[in-house]
Amino acid sequence: MKLKLEKNKGSKINEEMIGLFFEDINYAADGGLYAEMLENRSFAFYECYGDKGDYYAKPDPGYGWRPAQENGGEMQYVTGSPLYRENPCYLRFTAAEPGQGFQNQAYSGIFLEKGKEYRVSFYARQNAYEGNFLVSVKKDGKAYAEAAVACQSVPKNTWRKWIRYELTLRAEETVKGAAFVLALEEAGTVEFDFISMMPADAVAGVFRKDLFERLKELHPGFLRFPGGCIVEGNTMENRYRWKESVGMPERRKANFSRWSLHGTNAENGWHTEYAHYNQTLGIGFYEYFLLCELIGAKPLPVLNVGLACQYQSYELVETDAPEFQEFIQDALDLIEFANGAPETAWGALRAQMGHPDPFGLEMVGIGNEQWETERVDFFARYRLFEGAIHEKYPEIRLIGSAGPDITSERYRNAWEFYHEAAAGNPNFCYAVDEHYYVKPEWFYEHVDFYDDYSRDVKVFAGEYAAHPDCGMNNPGANTLAGALAEAAFLTGIEKNADVVVLASYAPLFARIGYAQWSPDMIWFDETDTYPTASYYVQKMYGENMGTVLIPMHGQEKELRRENIYVNLSLDERTEEYILKAVNASKETKTLELLDWNDEPLRGKAILKELQREPENDSVDGTERRRSRPEAVLYGERSEELNGVLTLAPESFVALRIKV
Ligand code: AHR
Repeated sequence: MKLKLEKNKGSKINEEMIGLFFEDINYAADGGLYAEMLENRSFAFYECYGDKGDYYAKPDPGYGWRPAQENGGEMQYVTGSPLYRENPCYLRFTAAEPGQGFQNQAYSGIFLEKGKEYRVSFYARQNAYEGNFLVSVKKDGKAYAEAAVACQSVPKNTWRKWIRYELTLRAEETVKGAAFVLALEEAGTVEFDFISMMPADAVAGVFRKDLFERLKELHPGFLRFPGGCIVEGNTMENRYRWKESVGMPERRKANFSRWSLHGTNAENGWHTEYAHYNQTLGIGFYEYFLLCELIGAKPLPVLNVGLACQYQSYELVETDAPEFQEFIQDALDLIEFANGAPETAWGALRAQMGHPDPFGLEMVGIGNEQWETERVDFFARYRLFEGAIHEKYPEIRLIGSAGPDITSERYRNAWEFYHEAAAGNPNFCYAVDEHYYVKPEWFYEHVDFYDDYSRDVKVFAGEYAAHPDCGMNNPGANTLAGALAEAAFLTGIEKNADVVVLASYAPLFARIGYAQWSPDMIWFDETDTYPTASYYVQKMYGENMGTVLIPMHGQEKELRRENIYVNLSLDERTEEYILKAVNASKETKTLELLDWNDEPLRGKAILKELQREPENDSVDGTERRRSRPEAVLYGERSEELNGVLTLAPESFVALRIKV
């Protein structure tokens, strides 16, 4: 098998092509990337029930909290003098005896690492109390970290205002499954709200460090956020409202998550184990923009177009209703929030939050996964958004939607709509967002999917993943076979870089034991992250994007007959040729690489390789396979290439070479 390089260059490749799609699904934000360690810190959570057309959320302010000892004090969830009106409920705690307190055992429990520091803060209103507050992390009666802070006294017969307290905990030992405990040193009554605990090493005081680093390592070109179906909500009430996600975290109104209602049915009483999945919005739009800046990705926020999730709901706001203007205004104000001068209303808020410089927003998604039906006039909505946005901000590139299933009539209708509109207005739509969750075989059979696409409107492969198997909470659904199918399909996407400009795998994160969707790119728990084979595929692409294609003149099609999938590009910045090659067969293959003179391609090559891990029957290996994504080998090496590249069975290689 041969592959010959040539000196001629083909189409330009969008340098930001390989990006990320972040959605708060599978506890990706709260309980995940958001470094907050406590659950329901503002006593604002809901418990969710229901079915399409009949959803309801019951306030459950005490969720996650309980007395630290049996019969150990009274916990009342009250309102009347809230810290802020957005989350009106708070805790009124009465210790009948000294030392009584309450605890939070968030998610799978508190995990502390020996020697690390954790910042605790809370607001308290001292109603009848003079002593210290005792803060600790405990398991089975043993304290692994503890500290005290004195309650500030307030003169009698004055307004007892909320006071913020801060302290640092230092872990004496490592512990898992512990509880956060806040106790009163003396008997008395105190009211509490917004109780928070964060690792001191949280990036920018917001992002869990290990998860953040996984994202940064991917070298993403862009970040699409905040979803996904979460943009739409099950109802218009729990749709994502970006304006409620900015400003002081204490004032961000908690909302129930669309994913708290995933999988409800008659057998489970329209209520699942994720019924308390809520959004604190601790990672809100300001933090998403900041994240983009910190990981070097272009921001791509997605906006609601007056439609609740088309899968899960019938709710919508009619385009002729006055409230619809709010949705359009949200889009205009978002652009001002991201890019406006600090003198503008929304630019001022950004500056006040700590970022006077613009965030450099260039792209906006109009709707998530929307499609036109007899009832849903998505195309009209897109037109209204496009008109209003481009009238004020013609430079903003807009992303349209083609709906959920790539081979359907809905797709064809959507593309007809965008093509027709683009004929009269080339700025109408920059790229159309296509989603496909398909079997690995589909990816192999459709590597040339984009070869014949019309080039007038570009494509954003906004959500894709190979699904050898799927479901909830199934790390086993992430396999090397699935990832290789994705890598092979991406050779076709890259080869069509003149039409596909953006691509992102989905979903990104899943907390083990808390996932509503699998496969996912990065699994994690409270202690660690577990990157999947798909993660390495994305990393290898993210780190190895050329600036221009090298034409292959059908050689790639010949190689596919041998189960080899390739693409060639050139990185003009470093003058390195880049080869991506998937060996989808179970045999070792040898690829002869030739230069433009038909000479063996020689030089120092840097190779990144993903392949199957040898069978490991140890107890540890078996256990890992059950509860973790399939283990794979990933490595980097350099070698003096002498015209021959050996491809291991079931492997993916990204090779850079200077000729
Ligand atoms: O990625 C999971 C979900 O798949 C997204 O929220 C939605 O856009 C799609 O249906």
